[in-house]
Amino acid sequence: GRVAVVMGGQSAEREVSLDSGRNVLDALRAKGVDAHAVDGIPALLDALRAGHYARVFNILHGQHGGGEDGVLQGALESLHVPYTGSGVLGSALSMDKVRTKQVWIAAGLPTPRFVALRKRGGATPDVHAAAAKLGLPVIVKPACEGSSVGVSRVFRDADLDAAAELAARYPGDLLVEEMIVGDELTVGVLGGEALPSIRIVPKGAFYDYHAKYVAEDTQYICPGLDGAAEADIRALALTAFDAAGCSGWGRVDVMRDREGRNYLLEVNTAPGMTSHSLVPKAAGTLGIGFEELCWRVLETSFE
Ligand code: DAL
Ligand code: MG
Repeated sequence: GRVAVVMGGQSAEREVSLDSGRNVLDALRAKGVDAHAVDGIPALLDALRAGHYARVFNILHGQHGGGEDGVLQGALESLHVPYTGSGVLGSALSMDKVRTKQVWIAAGLPTPRFVALRKRGGATPDVHAAAAKLGLPVIVKPACEGSSVGVSRVFRDADLDAAAELAARYPGDLLVEEMIVGDELTVGVLGGEALPSIRIVPKGAFYDYHAKYVAEDTQYICPGLDGAAEADIRALALTAFDAAGCSGWGRVDVMRDREGRNYLLEVNTAPGMTSHSLVPKAAGTLGIGFEELCWRVLETSFE
């Protein structure tokens, strides 16, 4: 039947999602799939009720109409429409970095030390005590955003308030995390298996929105590690993915310190599929081209 590729939406990652979605649409069509673009959840639900689509490829990123946070998944469950990727629980949990970390800690998995702060009555929380407890430098971020939107690295006390105000512009709690100094790695998951890790070497100090989607000089090394270390990080990523209740496909982001200890950062349940994105790079090193990758992700919707 016809496949809706749902993209865009209203989150802070709308443009990234449109970019991912157009690529997915082209790839599925090249594979002979009768695929169509749909922008956002309300348009999708209208089309589904009208009987236009049999299946959904979800490439929405982010929360609150972004479609990565369990809301869309719940609606599709209620309509009995199959969809790609994680279900309600895994999607909702993974959208919230604070609760994901709490689940990982309960499961004995490593994640950077942190303090979570709620916005009371819309006020920006005071992050000074959190930073003092963790020790500078820290990362200040909105708990429920993606693509590094609203994230700051803070080295000096004087920069804490501006970082908190930026993070507080986005919905959800604030997360203050110890800064792990070392390498940034990511592990894609596809059909129950971990892809080779990617080590990200941004030209600047930080793999931020610009380094993710604009810069052409960010370096990607895949596999990111050798031998036992590579096997360990893949196993850790799969365990973390399972612990967060995720399924189908996704991507687990990890920091690795100078002593070779891994720290889990978060799971992305609808990872980017732009020309700069990571899962396509990792799949490519296994000889899985972009069209084949999109087909395999579509397969995660088959019961
Ligand atoms: N949140 C972006 C899309 C990613 O993880 O790739
Ligand atoms: Mg993310």
